[in-house]
Amino acid sequence: MSGRRRHRRTAVGEATAPAERLTLTIDTLGAQGEGIARRGADLVFVPLTVPGEQVTVDIVGRGPGGLKGRLVEVMAAGSDRIEPPCPHYGTCGGCALQHLAPAPYAAWKRDQVITALAQRGLSEVKVGSPIIIPPGRRRRTAFIVERVDGRIIAGYSARASHRVVDIERCLLLTPALDQLRDALRRFAGTWLKEGERWRVHATESEGGLDVVIAAGRQKSGGLAIAARRQLAGFADEADLARLSWQNSETDPPEPIIVRRMPQLMLGGVAVELPPGGFLQPSAEGEAILGDLAVEGIGKAKRVADLFAGIGTLSLRLAAVTKVSAIDSDPRLIAALAKAAGAVGFSGRVETEVRDLDRRPLAGDELEPFSAVVFDPPRAGARAQAEALARTESVERVVAVSCNPATFARDARILVDGGFRPIRVVPVDQFTYAAHVEIVGQFRRV
Ligand SMILES: C[S@@+](CC[C@H](N)C(=O)[O-])C[C@H]1O[C@@H](n2cnc3c(N)ncnc32)[C@H](O)[C@@H]1O
Repeated sequence: MSGRRRHRRTAVGEATAPAERLTLTIDTLGAQGEGIARRGADLVFVPLTVPGEQVTVDIVGRGPGGLKGRLVEVMAAGSDRIEPPCPHYGTCGGCALQHLAPAPYAAWKRDQVITALAQRGLSEVKVGSPIIIPPGRRRRTAFIVERVDGRIIAGYSARASHRVVDIERCLLLTPALDQLRDALRRFAGTWLKEGERWRVHATESEGGLDVVIAAGRQKSGGLAIAARRQLAGFADEADLARLSWQNSETDPPEPIIVRRMPQLMLGGVAVELPPGGFLQPSAEGEAILGDLAVEGIGKAKRVADLFAGIGTLSLRLAAVTKVSAIDSDPRLIAALAKAAGAVGFSGRVETEVRDLDRRPLAGDELEPFSAVVFDPPRAGARAQAEALARTESVERVVAVSCNPATFARDARILVDGGFRPIRVVPVDQFTYAAHVEIVGQFRRV
């Protein structure tokens, strides 16, 4: 792309008068994938820009790290800029890095891990090249569906706004998920009143789409028979595998109709997915995490898979060793136990429901395991890492994480407890987003 070419961006919320308009040069990319420029002593954070380019920016506020800038125009494009492939780029809040060329994109993802480790004094750790999952593979998503000015909109939150962008096509999603919005718009037209909104969680499974409609504003209590019939009719029309209804975010989803059981093949084992249950965002990413976990445990005779979910890693580990799978969600553990039992894996996979933040596996409980795998939510596994650091029996640890900061914190705890990082691999499951998945393999020295 020519360095002279100018890009005009549609500014979000243009009605607000800008406090100040500046021309700046972007120096680097920040942790959210935004460009960072300097204005005197201040840093200015400008989303959708790349290093080396000259941009016109409106200053729209101040955040904890500096000024917030909104891109008005790219005056001279940086060499790392490419034409973003999505028509909703810039307005949709979903993708932060579509405008970054493949090589600097991969380097940025890797740098997030390197920087987080360096901040914990682990700058000597070698971080591998990211394994990139291409767009079009995302098998779970959450759409917002709402009626505004009489019109039904189905899509994602707009950039820096509460508005919803009506999405025609999302390049990240599998084709089946991407086509669901049309059916949702038609059905929502018969249901939603002005100002009402649903959050629709959708997962592509072997049996077809598994959909949960979270109504948010509905009072708790049962749905009327007529409403249930209406929902079942929608499931038929859209050929959904299962449709569930959730009165509020705190209520569990209630299956309204199961036309085919939503199943996933995990390590060759069919697992029935509980409605709304956690699932790795892509089948490809899931397989890579599984392979790295199996590699990382070496020849362990017994392994604990902590924060195991429905057994994404456990069922792959069970092909090579005995596994104790632990998670705090009883629905996920029940699905895993049922799947393992159905294929005669009961002797190889034990399960337990347990809160590992409050009650990490510790002391004597760790004795039977020569290897431990943990894959916690973004907050990380501090208590579990501390328990592992205090024990001598565990020889290998595999830490899977979707947050470089907590990954690095937990890695520091393991290193201080006598473990050495053997292999650290970023896995780009969150294509175009400022998130990174990481697998770290550690060995006791
Ligand atoms: C990132 S998911 C990983 C799940 C699984 N390893 C997979 O790959 O599908 C994190 C898991 O941690 C579980 N979890 C969250 N908080 C927990 C806690 N305090 N104790 C145990 N498990 C927890 C969630 O239920 C979820 O299944």
